[in-house]
Amino acid sequence: MTQGLFISFEGIDGAGKSSHIEALAQAFRNAGRTVTLTREPGGTPLAEKLRAMLLHDSMDPLTEALLAFAGRRDHLRCVIEPALARGEVVLCDRFTDATFAYQGAGRGFDLQVLAYLEKLVQTGLADDATLLRNPDVTIWFDVPPKVAAERLAAARTPDRFEAQPEAFFERVAGGYADRAAADPQRFARIDSSQDRESVARQVMAAMAARGLLPAEARA
Ligand code: TYD
Repeated sequence: MTQGLFISFEGIDGAGKSSHIEALAQAFRNAGRTVTLTREPGGTPLAEKLRAMLLHDSMDPLTEALLAFAGRRDHLRCVIEPALARGEVVLCDRFTDATFAYQGAGRGFDLQVLAYLEKLVQTGLADDATLLRNPDVTIWFDVPPKVAAERLAAARTPDRFEAQPEAFFERVAGGYADRAAADPQRFARIDSSQDRESVARQVMAAMAARGLLPAEARA
């Protein structure tokens, strides 16, 4: 049977990742794969309720971190692990790197506690109970916070995170850079300040470089 493949998408708000996730899903479908498209916070009925709280209710960083990981546990158990076990491609709009970047670097929450929660929540789910489930590949849309802020200003009503000042996003961007430096094999950095076409090409090239899609793959 085909092996499951877990890909996450990360970047600060306004990095422009969303439009590329559907394109990549289509490219995998064209290559004959079944795709599960999902997101965090969220991805299950329970985790979607937690998402609404996380994005709109005021709370301290510990509560934020606990809600993010509680939703993740449910999401892993009910959606991600079963899809991977069926050999599907799971495309997840944000995952644990976002908790390290937003709650850790952005809010200043203790990274060691986050690492403990990561281990607690992401093991004991698969056949191999010792496996710490993390994405096989993380597509990181890297963009200067100033560019992201300009894009966001033109968009919708901001949630609790989008409403943060640029300094917050400077820290979050630094948090992503630290996660990428700690696990360079997993991270595919995309220069997301480029135009949409170029970003789309970079995403497909990153997949081809890892042998996950044919070099000529298109959405
Ligand atoms: P986002 O993924 O940007 O969704 P949308 O495109 O619908 O706005 O929004 C999710 C927000 O949640 C984003 O600001 C980052 C934040 N977040 C955390 O703070 N911690 C987490 O663990 C996750 C997954 C997201």
